[in-house]
Amino acid sequence: CGIVGYVGGQQAEQVVVDGLARLEYRGYDSAGIALVVEGRLATAKKAGKLINLRKVLEEEPPPASTVGLGHTRWATHGAPNDVNAHPHVDCAGRVAVIHNGIIENFAQLRAELTERGHVFESETDTEVVAHLLEEEVGEHGLAEAMRRVCRRLEGAYTLVAVDAQDPDVVVGARRNSPLVVGKGVGENFLASDVAAFIEHTRDAIELGQDQVVELRREGVTVTDYDGRPAEVREYHVDWDVSAAEKGGYDAFMLKEIAEQPRAVADTLLGRIGADGRLHLDEMHITDEQLREIDKIIIIACGTSYHAGMIAKYAIEHWAGVPCEVEFASEFRYRDPILTKSTLVIAISQSGESMDTLMAVRHAREQKARVLCICNVNGSTMPRECDGVLYTHAGPEVGVAATKTFLTQLVAVYLIALYIAQVRGTKWGDEVFAMVQLLGSMPEKVEKVLETMEPVRELARSLADEKSVLFLGRHVGFPVALEGALKLKELAYMHAEGFAAGELKHGPIALIEDGLPVIVVVPPRARDVLHDKIVSNIQEIRARGARTIVIAEEGDDSVAPYADTLIEVPAVPTLLQPLVTTIPLQVFSCELATAKGHDVDQPRNLAKSVTVE
Ligand code: G6P
Repeated sequence: CGIVGYVGGQQAEQVVVDGLARLEYRGYDSAGIALVVEGRLATAKKAGKLINLRKVLEEEPPPASTVGLGHTRWATHGAPNDVNAHPHVDCAGRVAVIHNGIIENFAQLRAELTERGHVFESETDTEVVAHLLEEEVGEHGLAEAMRRVCRRLEGAYTLVAVDAQDPDVVVGARRNSPLVVGKGVGENFLASDVAAFIEHTRDAIELGQDQVVELRREGVTVTDYDGRPAEVREYHVDWDVSAAEKGGYDAFMLKEIAEQPRAVADTLLGRIGADGRLHLDEMHITDEQLREIDKIIIIACGTSYHAGMIAKYAIEHWAGVPCEVEFASEFRYRDPILTKSTLVIAISQSGESMDTLMAVRHAREQKARVLCICNVNGSTMPRECDGVLYTHAGPEVGVAATKTFLTQLVAVYLIALYIAQVRGTKWGDEVFAMVQLLGSMPEKVEKVLETMEPVRELARSLADEKSVLFLGRHVGFPVALEGALKLKELAYMHAEGFAAGELKHGPIALIEDGLPVIVVVPPRARDVLHDKIVSNIQEIRARGARTIVIAEEGDDSVAPYADTLIEVPAVPTLLQPLVTTIPLQVFSCELATAKGHDVDQPRNLAKSVTVE
């Protein structure tokens, strides 16, 4: 899941291991490195966290080396043990390879290689690449060998390799999963993410699909798989190392929750004109095209999917365009009906989730116009979509999405209001007022954060519970789902979110004495919705539930039925998720911490899942 390559004047071991540490947030279950040392390879790999690998390296320090690569693996083929950890080395011990993704034709390649006498050590698909490179490297050198091998591989992969016989080269190949070059002076870097080399250089080159890069101390050469020079995009990273560090917080997640007022403000920045009108030129869609749209389909996974559910309410209400939301992993397998007049919006903080990427490609093949909402500049989805709205939340290191979720919400509100502005709807005045109100959301978010101590106390008191339910109506329903997802991800606890009205159709059977149920209450102004949920709270309380109620400040009507009341600032219904989500983030983070879990790297999860 994390890849680092280095060639230069520094000790490669340190550069590579420190780089891997900065990529830990991507999630992984084993780690390894390979160094080129006087015509041979020194490798070390270990199951578990990086600390295990560091111990091995301390006990048996490898010889000095200035060329190397490292990997943190999230298991796909084969268990996460020492043998299956990357790098993988060919029989002759000449080439070491690391890989992200899946090589789909590996079984066939493995059979061919075995027939030609190669002996395999691991169960991984990656090892075939080491053996294939071994057959080519002697005659062609590593870069050409990589191009030849890539032409034979099917599937999604990013590969990086070193050659024991050439102490001045690291070669990478990219198809689908990300790979960036860091350009230094007399040294160069390769990584799945700029965070890995940001302390050494902020000059980066983004590699495109199906490109091979040859990294030497004095230069970088990028070609396509046939060896033709490739066009690449060079850019300067506009955040520094402190943005990728904890900045005094105990966990990245805590820092990222606290950063939300600024993140929300940054997403709004430059998008609301002095005249109160929205400007979203980066969507690359003309007014005429927007007027022709007759359906919007949103595709996303995980937390981003919850942002998509909220988008549906906002788009249908303000813009009056029919909108569907679908799990990206389901989308292309059900023959969705798309036309030129369908607008597809992919929501993905990473821009790399394979499920969403494949759905994007499917939609484009069907000639739909595809936009994405994304947080990572230069990632795959923005490059493959017709337009992109960046969320500008800054790097999110904690695996569980927090600030990227809030900024995705801002982005979907902006899109919904923008479509309404262009097409004109009966809600003209409301649209104008909402745009103004969005501008005041950073303050409201800040206000919620200032009042979170009772939520933390509550979380600690519930650390030994077995299960927590979450209820909501309207946009409070996706918020309830997101609250439950956060608790599952971080506290490994049974948690479920329900539409409050659905409760009586089954889930109410789960309610028993003392079961904590968190209820998200719509603003009082939405009287029908509000009153219905107050009835729902009474129903569950009558059956023994311990009610934890999130409601707008001054809402006296819910207080009598709330065992715990969490107040948030009053905002209109559709914008309410921006304030009601925060107590749920704080709750799960604190509860997981009380249970002794690492909130930044929950077990089994990865920040961006680049397999389907
Ligand atoms: C992974 C993460 C989730 C995230 C989901 C979608 O499963 O663990 O936190 O919501 O991917 O990620 P994306 O980058 O597409 O928003």
